Amino acid sequence: MTSAFTSNAADLETPRTFKWIADGFAFGGDYNPEQWPEHVWAEDMALMRRAGVNSVNLGVFSWGLLEVADGEYDWGWLDRVMALCAENGIGVNLATPTAAPPMWLVTEHPEIMSVDDRGVRTAPGARLGWSPSSALFRAHAVRFVRALAERYGSHPALRMWHVSNELGNENDRCYGDETGEAWRAWLEAKFGDIGTLNAAWGTTFWGHRYSSFEQVQLPRFARSVHNPGLLLDFERFSSDALLAHYVAERSVLREVTPDIPITTNFMVLGSTRVPDYARWAEEVDLVSNDHYTDSASPDRHAELAFSADRTRGMAQGRPWLLIEHSTSAVDWQPINRAKLAGELTRNTLAHIARGADGALFFQWRASTAGAEQFHSAVVPHAGVDSKIFREVERLGATIKRLAPIVGSRVAPARVAILWDQDASSALSSGKRPSAALDYLDAPLAFHRALTQRGIAVDVVRPADGFADYDLVIVPTLFLATTHTTAALAEFVEAGGHAVVTYFSGIVDETNRVITGGYPGAFRDLLGISVEEFHPMQAVETVTLSNGWSASVWIEQLNLRGASALATYATGDLAGVTALTRNLVGAGSATYVATRVDHSGLLELVDDVCVLAGIHPIATIEEGLEVVRRRSDSASYLFLINHADAPRTAIASGTDLDSGVKHEGSVTVAAGSVVVLEEAAS
Ligand code: GLA
Repeated sequence: MTSAFTSNAADLETPRTFKWIADGFAFGGDYNPEQWPEHVWAEDMALMRRAGVNSVNLGVFSWGLLEVADGEYDWGWLDRVMALCAENGIGVNLATPTAAPPMWLVTEHPEIMSVDDRGVRTAPGARLGWSPSSALFRAHAVRFVRALAERYGSHPALRMWHVSNELGNENDRCYGDETGEAWRAWLEAKFGDIGTLNAAWGTTFWGHRYSSFEQVQLPRFARSVHNPGLLLDFERFSSDALLAHYVAERSVLREVTPDIPITTNFMVLGSTRVPDYARWAEEVDLVSNDHYTDSASPDRHAELAFSADRTRGMAQGRPWLLIEHSTSAVDWQPINRAKLAGELTRNTLAHIARGADGALFFQWRASTAGAEQFHSAVVPHAGVDSKIFREVERLGATIKRLAPIVGSRVAPARVAILWDQDASSALSSGKRPSAALDYLDAPLAFHRALTQRGIAVDVVRPADGFADYDLVIVPTLFLATTHTTAALAEFVEAGGHAVVTYFSGIVDETNRVITGGYPGAFRDLLGISVEEFHPMQAVETVTLSNGWSASVWIEQLNLRGASALATYATGDLAGVTALTRNLVGAGSATYVATRVDHSGLLELVDDVCVLAGIHPIATIEEGLEVVRRRSDSASYLFLINHADAPRTAIASGTDLDSGVKHEGSVTVAAGSVVVLEEAAS
């Protein structure tokens, strides 16, 4: 089974297509055979075949083993592993191993390492850590990448290049002198003259007007807060600096191997919020993401669903790859819970339901030494006679039977949630009315409510346009451009329905407050004006006149044409409006001035979906997650049961795993997944 994908890659004149990286769904994991004696490799191959593995990420951290001293290469072991993979029908996503610089390089050139905001240079001994702006590091990296590409570029096992690893994870922001030079050059390219920068950042505050770019420093440690405009641009610069490193490696790979697709693994919901992945997605042939669930969260499947939909949004609806997740516990959370029986299967199929055309685990065999000793793997320390290996083996068989789905797309959604990296960066750049505001919170909460109701939803960047949707959610979109303001107004005027939440549309793209009553960017559309924010203490809640409960944030809101749907029944602002709706043109604009709890959000989602005429993908009992993928000729319904009892959906079709035909309704066992091929309608 092959399918073709197009690439947006900027240095190609036309989008290129490439052969899909696996036969069917890509299934496998990070393979680190260098950690094991060679006799284990034969066993690995046999076990991979048993588990249905057809795709591995290889060599991710092996630079120091391939270039043992400056310019001295030892390819022997990788030659042998590549040959084994080819013989066993396992496609290789060969990593440029630049995420882990060799000891000889960091010892000889400690100046390649990044520097923190207090001037402390990152020590050798871990991974990444290098400065994306280090010219010397870049030169060594691209030199090695060329040697790697020349050696393996035409190898039969090679399917894709995997550039570095989680760029930014351990080197997101650098405050070193060389970075300072790059920062000033970036600013000069952006603003042209220093007067424009002064105006954009509002540097008259504290009399901080610059007379030349040379005076602009990195936001190193200071005893108060740096200018929010500067901070936002520093986030943008840091994302671009990392992207430039990726592009440098990509250019070499593309020159040497023009037909091999290139990716780099994103961390769409990772803890570093630097990379502007929607922008990065334009530079990769295949969007791939690493996702690890928060083992402490009872709603971790909801967060997974959001991550997957957001990744699909970056891929502009095209299939994408879950290039890393875990079979069970990770080793970097405060308490690393093992996954429950069936959870790795639900996780894998939930990503696939939402558009992934493959799912790979970190890692194949659990390490005994090194920094990740207690991270789960496909082959755990206990060996293959284990819950994990047995479940992966069963899943591998299921995944093979689902192969007809590869290349299909998630069926179009009528609801979009707007997500913008600049809004995220701006929200954390400067002092804000409440430290309890987290950019992830409101988008995730809406996504969870919509998903619980069985409503398909896309997560899209405002700049990519949303005119084709019927309902658009604008959750804490703190920064809004004039383009977004106009596009949202046009959308509603033309009959669309918008839901905007508290602390949206507050600043413009320079991180400067829009005056005249909050939320300046959306005030007119919403028919309201907010005078003052009243953030609440962590323990406080309020009740609304409609019975909903809310927390974190309330506002002194005045109606300017909108109707009040609910007021605060309790708290500092009892009697003030909390929920409004403005009918504009053929559509409506609803404003939610507070952080409504989950049951209230479910009611709100029901209300606006009725207004917009939006229906669930299928009628489901609570606890089921439902997603539909479609190709030109077929339709596939994924039903994932997150409950601890059977759940039923109104649906018909053939279970692709068991072959059982269902007519009218399908009951999914507790914790199980059913994938139906639906009858053509
Ligand atoms: C990230 C990295 C992997 C590994 C895992 C552990 O995803 O890319 O190399 O460290 O985390 O969860």
